[in-house]
Formats: sequence, C-alpha cells, structure tokens
Amino acid sequence: MNFESAKSQLTKVLVTEEQIKTRVAELAAEIDAKYQGKEVVLVGVLKGAIMFMADLSRALSIPTSMDWMALSSYGSGTVSSGVIRIRKDLDAEIHGKHVIIVEDIIDSGLTLSWLQTTLNSRGAASVEVVAFLRKPAAAKVEVPVWLVGYDIPNEFVVGYGLDYNEQYRTLNCVAVLDPKVYS
Ligand code: IMP
Ligand code: MG
Repeated sequence: MNFESAKSQLTKVLVTEEQIKTRVAELAAEIDAKYQGKEVVLVGVLKGAIMFMADLSRALSIPTSMDWMALSSYGSGTVSSGVIRIRKDLDAEIHGKHVIIVEDIIDSGLTLSWLQTTLNSRGAASVEVVAFLRKPAAAKVEVPVWLVGYDIPNEFVVGYGLDYNEQYRTLNCVAVLDPKVYS
C-alpha cells in the first residue's frame, strides 16, 4: 500500500520508500563490518519488525540466522503500558551467540530495555540493538542502542511494519497517522 491509497488517514510521510532502501543498506554495511566471522542471530520482535528484518537481513553479506519473539506491551492503544509479556519465545538457544535485536521503533524504550536484560541473562556472547526508528523525546529509560535508522518526532507513526490496530503495516513508507483516526 502507498501513501496515496491511505492519504485521508495520514498527515505526512516521514521516511520515504527510497530513504528506507538507502538507510537499510548503510545499516547492513555497518553490521557486515562488525560481525565478520561471528555466529550471528538476528532477533526480531513481532510483528512490527517484519519489514525491516526482511530488508536488513537480505542486505547483509554475512551469514545470519533469524529468530522471533512476540511481546505485548501495547494492547490496542497508542501509549506504552510498560508491562511486557512474552507471547512467543525464541525457537533456538542463544547461549554463546552474537545477538542483534532488530526493532521497528524505540518509543519509551521499556520493551527494549527488558529484552536486552532477558537475552543477556540467557548467556548470549553479545547483545546489540539495531532499530529502524527512534523517538528520542519519548524515552523513559536509557537503552544502549548501537544503530538507529532515523530519529523521528514524538508522533504516532505507521507503515513499514508499524501498525495501528493491525492496520497500515503494509504501507511502503513511514507516515504520521492522523490523530482523528484514534481520537
Ligand atoms: P516502547 O516499549 O514504548 O519502546 O514501544 C515498543 C513498541 O511499541 C514498538 O516496538 C512498537 O511496536 C510500538 N510502538 C511504539 N511507538 C509506535 C508508533 O508510533 N507507531 C506504531 N507502533 C509503535
Ligand atoms: Mg516492536
């Protein structure tokens, strides 16, 4: 789906399809350089990270495996609850492996902070975070993040995997959702 098709519910495009492509390639190059010769597991957080994971993983030259977790912190609203529950755990052990958490967006940072602690406690050789988007103004906890695609304003965004009530994930850019949709 493109911006035109959902224009009446969106206020503006923040990251275009072209910018996504360029930035993903740059992030992949950084990962390639740092992880040569290491056993890497990309851990994606469902469902928001699916598009970013698909693009980033294919842009890498190093071999990686891919695993997924489903966490709930949001329900159907637009404000982070801070309560995190595992709805689906990883399929494989990460002990001794180099883990890269692939995240769609860092908002309050609560989800990520919890996830980093959890994966470190399972004995990963290292845990780094690569997030496509970050809202610096929304941070409630400091999370060490290695790479960020774009810092964006503190507005509710959709597209490129991000949803509002399971809608707009398939939008090919990142756009601001018109507040009239959720108010
Ligand atoms: P955090 O725990 O507040 O950092 O937010 C974690 C999750 O909330 C993200 O991984 C997203 O799935 C979701 N989220 C946060 N901000 C937005 C947004 O602007 N649009 C859609 N989902 C969001
Ligand atoms: Mg997420």
